[in-house]
Amino acid sequence: MAAFPVDVVVMAAGKGTRMKSAKPKVLHRLGGRALAQHVIDTAAGVSARSVVVITGHGAEAVEAGLCEPAGVALKYVRQEPQLGTGHAVQQALPVLADDGVTLVLSGDVPLTQAATLQALLDLSAGERLALLTLDLADPSGYGRIVRGGGKDGGGEVLAIVEQKDATPEQRAITEIYSGIMAVPTRLLRAWLARLDNQNAQGEYYLTDVVRFAVADGAVVLAHRIADAVQVAGVNSPVQLAELERAYQRRVAQALMEQGVRLADPARLDVRGSLVCGPDVEIDVNCVFEGQVTLGEGVRIGPNCVIANARIEAGATLQAFTHIQGEKAGVTVGPRAEIGPFARLRPGAVLGAEVHIGNFVEVKNSTLAAGAKANHLAYLGDADVGERVNYGAGSITANYDGANKHRTVIEADVHVGSNCVLVAPVTIGAGGTVGAGSTISKNTEPGALSVARGKQVSVANWRRPAKKKPA
Ligand code: UD1
Ligand code: CA
Repeated sequence: MAAFPVDVVVMAAGKGTRMKSAKPKVLHRLGGRALAQHVIDTAAGVSARSVVVITGHGAEAVEAGLCEPAGVALKYVRQEPQLGTGHAVQQALPVLADDGVTLVLSGDVPLTQAATLQALLDLSAGERLALLTLDLADPSGYGRIVRGGGKDGGGEVLAIVEQKDATPEQRAITEIYSGIMAVPTRLLRAWLARLDNQNAQGEYYLTDVVRFAVADGAVVLAHRIADAVQVAGVNSPVQLAELERAYQRRVAQALMEQGVRLADPARLDVRGSLVCGPDVEIDVNCVFEGQVTLGEGVRIGPNCVIANARIEAGATLQAFTHIQGEKAGVTVGPRAEIGPFARLRPGAVLGAEVHIGNFVEVKNSTLAAGAKANHLAYLGDADVGERVNYGAGSITANYDGANKHRTVIEADVHVGSNCVLVAPVTIGAGGTVGAGSTISKNTEPGALSVARGKQVSVANWRRPAKKKPA
């Protein structure tokens, strides 16, 4: 905990015209999370007391689309109409307490690191105005940091001048304001009361607080960083894609530092959280969504899509395996072998050493240790016992057109190829179902059950011949 309370204000009222999308800009996703959610979650990383999101364009959608991080109070304030960044922060003043420092962030700047914000807060020390700044080879469009006492980079900060208000000399300044500041709330309140919109854009500029601070003899400090990605905003699909790559590089780097072996860090997409044990190997073009855990020694082949799943130690997922855990989740037991081309849907719970092969779909079913379904099969709403062998082309008919029913296949059953098990039905332990059977009645343990047309063979059968033209 810092020595002073921190309240975060996230500006998210702007329209985002350049996204050319009906969806509010700050709800566009990066790494599977809304842009503004990244910002809110980073606020939690500096132990903020509250986060106040300022909404305007698409306010209802934005408010419905974000969630409160643990330990931080999330509040919303509307800004109607949008008269500038200073006007935006003014809307938050009624819910900000004077004992704290306000950290101003933008909902469209997703990759700022908590450590950077903490350094800025430390610089403010609860009583000074601290600005996050950066040198850019091309500073156009940004507010410039005007310093006194000699050369660029030399003296104390005097003002932030917006591009449109800047003189040619000021436009040559390469140090820009990132849009992020930490400011003692009681000072912010007094300074915002003095804002006007007498400038090139007719807007209320938050950046004018710097002039007021200087006029009041208050200390203004800049925390100057070098990593542009941390303050990069998203204004267009191109920038969104660039930051998505930057985010994925960061995730890949962190995984490799933990010991995960990635075949190619540039061909990994994590859209959620991926937790890996030791000695995990991930081949190219895999996508991880939601919450995914990979146990020790797990190997993931190329082109797998894995969402909301727990893969236990020593399991192997071969190429093109698709796991969609959704809410119920999917569990793959230790040393299981899945794929290639397997599909595991919500509620698939596979025990140790289970084998699921190509074009096999499993939904809302448990498979006990050692069960196998190696080719072209469907198991839905089934409980499959240990060591069951489930033949190619067999399916559970779990849906009668109105309701779903369960199929129970007890331990050591052998289901032949191309069988239909019409649920509800139980195949008794150790039983055998002959190939091509349609089973709608329970079978006894140990029984052989065959339910198909008897074979008829006609000796010396002559096939019809084509008529000769007359
Ligand atoms: C602002 C800064 C500029 C800085 C730049 C960094 C001001 C006056 N200028 O520029 O010095 O270099 O950020 O990116 O602050 N927003 C609202 N309500 C409004 C206006 C904006 O919520 O009335 C939100 C936007 O949705 C956005 C953020 O504030 O998330 C910043 O607005 P934007 O227009 O991108 O910033 P600039 O004014 O261009
Ligand atoms: Ca603007």
